[in-house]
Amino acid sequence: MNVALVFNLREESVNDDEPPSRPPAELSPDIYAEWDDIDTITAVEAALSTRHQVALINADLDVFQKLRELSPDFVFNIAEGLHGASREAQIPALLDMLQIPYSGSDPLSLGMCLDKQRTKEILKQHRVPSPRFWIVANPVEIPRNLRYPLMVKPCLEGSSKGVTNNALVHNRKELVRQLEWITATYSQKAIIEEFLPGREFTVALLGNGEDIRVLPIVEINFASLPAGCNPIYSYEAKWLWDTQESPLPIFDCPARLDPFLAQQIEQLCRNAFNALGCRDWCRIDVRLDALGRPQVIELNPLPGILPRPEQNSCFPKAARAAGLSYTEMILQVVDIASQRYNLVQEFSNESRCLL
Ligand SMILES: Nc1ncnc2c1ncn2[C@@H]1O[C@H](COP(=O)(O)OP(=O)(O)O)[C@@H](O)[C@H]1O
Ligand SMILES: [Mg+2]
Repeated sequence: MNVALVFNLREESVNDDEPPSRPPAELSPDIYAEWDDIDTITAVEAALSTRHQVALINADLDVFQKLRELSPDFVFNIAEGLHGASREAQIPALLDMLQIPYSGSDPLSLGMCLDKQRTKEILKQHRVPSPRFWIVANPVEIPRNLRYPLMVKPCLEGSSKGVTNNALVHNRKELVRQLEWITATYSQKAIIEEFLPGREFTVALLGNGEDIRVLPIVEINFASLPAGCNPIYSYEAKWLWDTQESPLPIFDCPARLDPFLAQQIEQLCRNAFNALGCRDWCRIDVRLDALGRPQVIELNPLPGILPRPEQNSCFPKAARAAGLSYTEMILQVVDIASQRYNLVQEFSNESRCLL
């Protein structure tokens, strides 16, 4: 197939000798945390090239025209989008408009999953357990009689943006401080959540509907974090304390789990995947409550896929534990999406015609 890889390039990753480009002052300093670096794009390109003709498309303001002119048979979509709460939905919406098949979830699911409030409303409707929550824009809206500790997060971010070590709050004063920081830094509402104190897992899924494969479960090893910090997978833990030069032993994969709990987690994740209408692949964060019951924290239908093992990226790590190389992982996503669109048949017929 003629495959286009569509991405948002993190510019400062192109030449590591250059100092990182400074984002404009009015934007939060972690504005580019969710975009992809050049190594990831090159690795995905290399994986796709083992079977397909590949073109690279940066998802900038000219992307619609580029896609229209190129008219690929299939798009491998890893673009996180440019601005706004529906940014992850932008490329899939354009592709739907152009009737070009693509990997991963549709605009609706991508938009929903980036919005922690909407995600949780849907999970609740489908009776998928997730921590209790309150949405607030302003300290006067903070409900009385809350039971601490609580988590405070921006409603519309990912990649741990805004979920700093201070996101776990123990009293109203800390809660107000964190809420004011979120609204000032990200110009959006905050979600306050009951804090789940148990073990944390992240779960990579491949497939669709009834046919979903759960890859070996990854456990977050909080004991590997610096002494004194909170037991959360915070922005600092993800991007500052765990570096590829000195990676923390932060993930255990496969997680040591008794079979019943493993089965409960797998079923929970399948249910969450289908409740949000996800497609092809997704990584789901799960944590145990005080009674040891798994609950969903959030879904990542555009999972991070940093290629090198020392970069500690969960989806590729789970794939490796399942015996899939990086290339096999990427090709599986293409195969799963192609089946969903019935492209497999179409292209195998075409190659027969060519013969
Ligand atoms: N309700 C919660 N209870 C316990 N820990 C939480 C909760 N919400 C978030 N966390 C911690 O914060 C981390 C980041 O939060 P998450 O909602 O996954 O945000 P992001 O979209 O940025 O990954 C989680 O991996 C987990 O460690
Ligand atoms: Mg997360």
